[in-house]
Amino acid sequence: MKHHSRLPLAAVLALGISPLAAQADALAQQLEDLQGFQIIAHRGASGYAPEHTWFAYDKARDMGADYLELDLHMSADNQLMVIHDDTLERTTNGEGNVKDHSLDALKALDAGSWFNQAHPEYANDDYAGAKLLTLDEVIGRYGDDVRYYIETKSPERYPELQRALVETLEAEGLVDAGAVVIQSFSQDSLEQIHALNADIPLVQLVWYSTAEDGDGLNEWTGVTPAPAEITDADFKAIADYAVGIGPNVVYDGQDVIDADFVAQAHANGLLVHPYTINEPDAMQRLLDWGVDGMFTNFPNRLNAIVE
Ligand code: G3P
Ligand code: CA
Repeated sequence: MKHHSRLPLAAVLALGISPLAAQADALAQQLEDLQGFQIIAHRGASGYAPEHTWFAYDKARDMGADYLELDLHMSADNQLMVIHDDTLERTTNGEGNVKDHSLDALKALDAGSWFNQAHPEYANDDYAGAKLLTLDEVIGRYGDDVRYYIETKSPERYPELQRALVETLEAEGLVDAGAVVIQSFSQDSLEQIHALNADIPLVQLVWYSTAEDGDGLNEWTGVTPAPAEITDADFKAIADYAVGIGPNVVYDGQDVIDADFVAQAHANGLLVHPYTINEPDAMQRLLDWGVDGMFTNFPNRLNAIVE
């Protein structure tokens, strides 16, 4: 990571800065940093190590990512778990829904061996037996030495998730430290978070795909119309609660957004953070469009281009 750190309280007091002023400065610094280009490590450096494990996060930090991207679900006993899928099969040796398993049961799973089979070119014996992580564990390891770009996944499954997340972040001082962005495909989830703490920068995710009748594009969540029909008012409605929009770029081999989309979002006060961009040519193309950051499984590739 190559940014900020909140000053320790003792240093703040020694410098004669009030703690409240220091908090405001940290948040202002985060918003200022967001105006620059942000490398968002998608599930950690998940191209090189099993996603959402210490291995992937440590690599992302060491590769100069600005944010660790985390996907959140909840265990049966209401612990915030960092995992992408609703279900366990793809990334662990477990079965069934995350939400139907206790924390203890989830911690007993192997969340690393699948990677060695799926990606032999990056396999490492150390990955076998890697554990699923709770949000508390991730925060406990990195504190505010890193920034977190946290996605509320399937919030309809977890009505308690928003409140639990905001309470955790506030208790750890991470909002005031300017260390968190929250993202979601769910507008409702983001609006709940905004109501709980309006200081948290939010990013509205969208997913454009071909309409079923083959005529143009649809947006999955209904937050915007197809890019060809987006008005300034559509972007402004998102800017009422969010600092940015996170679109996919390609669907079925075709571009779904373009440089005009980026310019129109900017003109209406929104940052643009596309996902998930792994190839250098695609990274450069989006940089040329003027995007403000990208989600990538290979943060070192993006860092090599932007530095
Ligand atoms: O959060 C941005 C991107 O990660 C959304 O897609 O499915 O990888 O969470 P997904
Ligand atoms: Ca995500």
